[in-house]
Amino acid sequence: MDRRKFLNNLSVAAAASIASASTLSAKADALEEAMEASLDKRRAKPGHCFIDGRPERDPNDKRPYLQHNEPLLPKMGKAPTLMDFYKLRWSTNHVTQSARLAQKNGSSEKVIMACLLHDVGLNIMGTDHGYWAAQLVRPYVDPEVAWAIEKHQALRFFPDREAGYEYPERYIEYFGEDYVPEPYLKEEHDRAKNHKWYMSSREITINDIYAFDPDLQVDVEDFTDIIGRNFKQPKEGLGFDSSPTAHMWRSMIWPNNFL
Ligand SMILES: [Fe+2]
Ligand SMILES: [Fe+2]
Repeated sequence: MDRRKFLNNLSVAAAASIASASTLSAKADALEEAMEASLDKRRAKPGHCFIDGRPERDPNDKRPYLQHNEPLLPKMGKAPTLMDFYKLRWSTNHVTQSARLAQKNGSSEKVIMACLLHDVGLNIMGTDHGYWAAQLVRPYVDPEVAWAIEKHQALRFFPDREAGYEYPERYIEYFGEDYVPEPYLKEEHDRAKNHKWYMSSREITINDIYAFDPDLQVDVEDFTDIIGRNFKQPKEGLGFDSSPTAHMWRSMIWPNNFL
């Protein structure tokens, strides 16, 4: 979509609704709605677990469904690299801040790589995002890196004072004082605690809690060499190498496919 042309052709009503939206996210919603109306395709708005069926928009809308390139997202090249995902699909500042902290704390390259990847599962799913991230990257990283990413899901809920990790204050705000992690997380934690790679995962959680500085930008390009040594980039591109997780990468290239 030509954004300038789109903005020039915006209807008066749509422009007014964007201008009058009081918050940034309301403005973004109004803008998206206006773009949606101007498309000759319908967005599928994928989702899951709708108990009353998938919400449909206008039953009179007979436009074909949008497939492949989403006009609201930058196009990705034919053979996407991990760096392309950081730059074109993911919000990176939290993970790069955590990797920078790991570097400062003298962590191994594997841990720094794990920090860089620990939350990329959030781009697919919040629930169990550590497992999603670990599964996504497992074909391309050292087993220790994938293991550490997976276990951060559970370890972040359990303090380890000896290692310098307290239960995050932020989680009290997020989940309330009375939140108790589900038993499967406690079991995962207990198993991980005795594992030879325990500290690699624990280091992710330690760097994680201090990596939310809104005034600090850490460029992912600072980690180009570490990524080059610790992530096996497939020559066909992520999503097109027939790996067991290629479909997960494609789902982020084209997140709004109907099917
Ligand atoms: Fe996380
Ligand atoms: Fe995190």
